[in-house]
Amino acid sequence: MKLAVVGKGGVGKTTTAAVLARTLARDGGTVVALDCDTNPNLGISLGIGDDETERLIGLRQSLDDGTQEHAPSWDSLIDVFGSDAPGGVRLAVVSAMDKPEPGCPCCGLSPEQLLRTVAFDEQTVIADFEAGIGTLTRLEAGAVDVIVLVVAPTAKSIEVARRAAELVAEKQLGRLVVLGNQVRDDADRALITAAFGEPDVACVPHDERIADADRRGVAPFDVAPDADAVLAIAALAGTLRATA
Ligand SMILES: Nc1ncnc2c1ncn2[C@@H]1O[C@H](COP(=O)(O)OP(=O)(O)O)[C@@H](O)[C@H]1O
Ligand SMILES: [Mg+2]
Repeated sequence: MKLAVVGKGGVGKTTTAAVLARTLARDGGTVVALDCDTNPNLGISLGIGDDETERLIGLRQSLDDGTQEHAPSWDSLIDVFGSDAPGGVRLAVVSAMDKPEPGCPCCGLSPEQLLRTVAFDEQTVIADFEAGIGTLTRLEAGAVDVIVLVVAPTAKSIEVARRAAELVAEKQLGRLVVLGNQVRDDADRALITAAFGEPDVACVPHDERIADADRRGVAPFDVAPDADAVLAIAALAGTLRATA
């Protein structure tokens, strides 16, 4: 199963991708988390810490500067530009480069192309995409199975999500799951469900324990596994697994 997590910046894509990855790995799958963001910070939410996340960012920068050797295959890419996160999740940073070498697996293929071309076999792949809809304009049918569209209760994020949902439908990009995040009350829930309709919208509450984990640079899954928001995202993981 290949999942792409998309939505406007700041809605909670990285948090969602990390909790989904950790939950699916705990429940027995081989999980690869792909950080596709040009500001890669999925590592922090997965629990590898600031230093290791910085190291991975530095490696991508060195690649662009020409001081890091290229990885000639997918396996070496995930080896060199990746890290073992807690719970058995393998993280790899695959964000687009400023100076790609055409055809090179570690820099010449966009994250969207990687998802389409790499044979992931039995692995569950969770891609934390760049904010906005650009990535969906580049994504081709068959690259992923499920698009988790994260939306916060704001007019702007709903607008981005509406356009994203249209693209997913038009291009037949996969099964669409709308995740309303940072929901504080019934009014927030109503705003999101009015735009996308029940019962397809899963809601994740606004939860200070998520924000607190982020302030400390640690994984919500590790420090607040029983937080309402973590449990809600974990419930979505269960649904996705059951219907995969
Ligand atoms: N359910 C939630 N409750 C409270 N804060 C949240 C929640 N989800 C995300 N956040 C906070 O919102 C900010 C953006 O989250 P992040 O996952 O990095 O979003 P994105 O990857 O979409 O930019 C972070 O500070 C995070 O702690
Ligand atoms: Mg993010």
